[in-house]
Amino acid sequence: MQETFISYKRFRWLWITAVGLLVCTTMYALNSPVGGNNGGTALGYAFGTIAALGIGLLMAYAARKRAYRSSLGTVEGWLAAHVWIGIGLILLVPLHSGFSFGLDVHTTAYVLMVGTIATGIWGAVNYSRLSGKITAHRGGATDATMLERIGELGKQAEALCAGKSEAFLQVYNAFDVPLDLSLWSIIVKERHPSVNQKAAAVMLSVISDAEQRDAIAMIGLLDQRLDLIRSLLEQARIKALLKLWLYTHIPLSCALCVALAIHIVVVLFYR
Ligand code: HEM
Ligand code: HEM
Repeated sequence: MQETFISYKRFRWLWITAVGLLVCTTMYALNSPVGGNNGGTALGYAFGTIAALGIGLLMAYAARKRAYRSSLGTVEGWLAAHVWIGIGLILLVPLHSGFSFGLDVHTTAYVLMVGTIATGIWGAVNYSRLSGKITAHRGGATDATMLERIGELGKQAEALCAGKSEAFLQVYNAFDVPLDLSLWSIIVKERHPSVNQKAAAVMLSVISDAEQRDAIAMIGLLDQRLDLIRSLLEQARIKALLKLWLYTHIPLSCALCVALAIHIVVVLFYR
């Protein structure tokens, strides 16, 4: 199996997080403070501090990712830690609060954290499923070369129409689907079906013998053009999916930091 940021160094960060959580859960089980476990006990404060430091580390990933000259671990290692420590927080915070939640700013911080983690998992799944499918990364055609080729094929097909019969032009019009690069077409709608072979054969049957060869060549060109358009759109869809989730993950993580700062100020100064 190829190593990814999830399986980095034989799941090193999964093990570190799992052992850490096991230690914390054991301490929690053995702890029996007056009034029961909650965020205000010594252990509660310790776990809260660890959780807040963990969140700080996850936020610091944004800086590490952009610090190209930094030699503080690899970006891949940081992302592995990010993913597994992030998931571990789901349990660490309830251990901190004594599994107590309410309709307050503290629980708001927790809900925002869970939302950040959920969108993070969505993103990590997207990365591992989709990033290998970007053909340009494997030496395939880039968007620009694909667009250029689509234009050329369209022009070559159009050139074959010069001086041809009405029946010939009808075939051209049937398969010369306009290029639609709208967001709607990228994400949802399949507007560029391949040439329907049966329909093409029926149309060809009414074209005169003299125009047959050009008609077949034209259909071939338009079919190649549609194939290219579909792979261009598929690539655009993958790239959009790889970006879209970050527009939920980043704002949620920022909102979490605000709620967490309020939580800490409230418990330290107003309790
Ligand atoms: C420096 C870090 C932290 C400190 C000092 C801290 C402190 C506290 C304290 C003293 C309480 C008890 C409040 C009370 O009983 O009224 C508490 C509860 C709680 N904390 Fe924290 N905390 C920290 C980090 C976090 C983090 C990172 C989260 C989640 C993202 C969190 C979520 C909660 C929740 C959900 C409760 C329970 C609220 C409830 O019972 O309604 N805390 N915290
Ligand atoms: C409290 C939890 C979390 C916080 C505060 C957080 C925060 C962040 C931040 C600030 C970034 C940087 C975005 C950027 O600058 O481009 C980021 C990226 C990312 N996060 Fe999280 N995250 C959390 C949990 C998770 C979890 C649990 C996962 C996956 C299971 C995850 C997966 C990712 C991925 C895949 C990236 C993008 C990596 C890249 O583009 O290089 N995050 N996160």
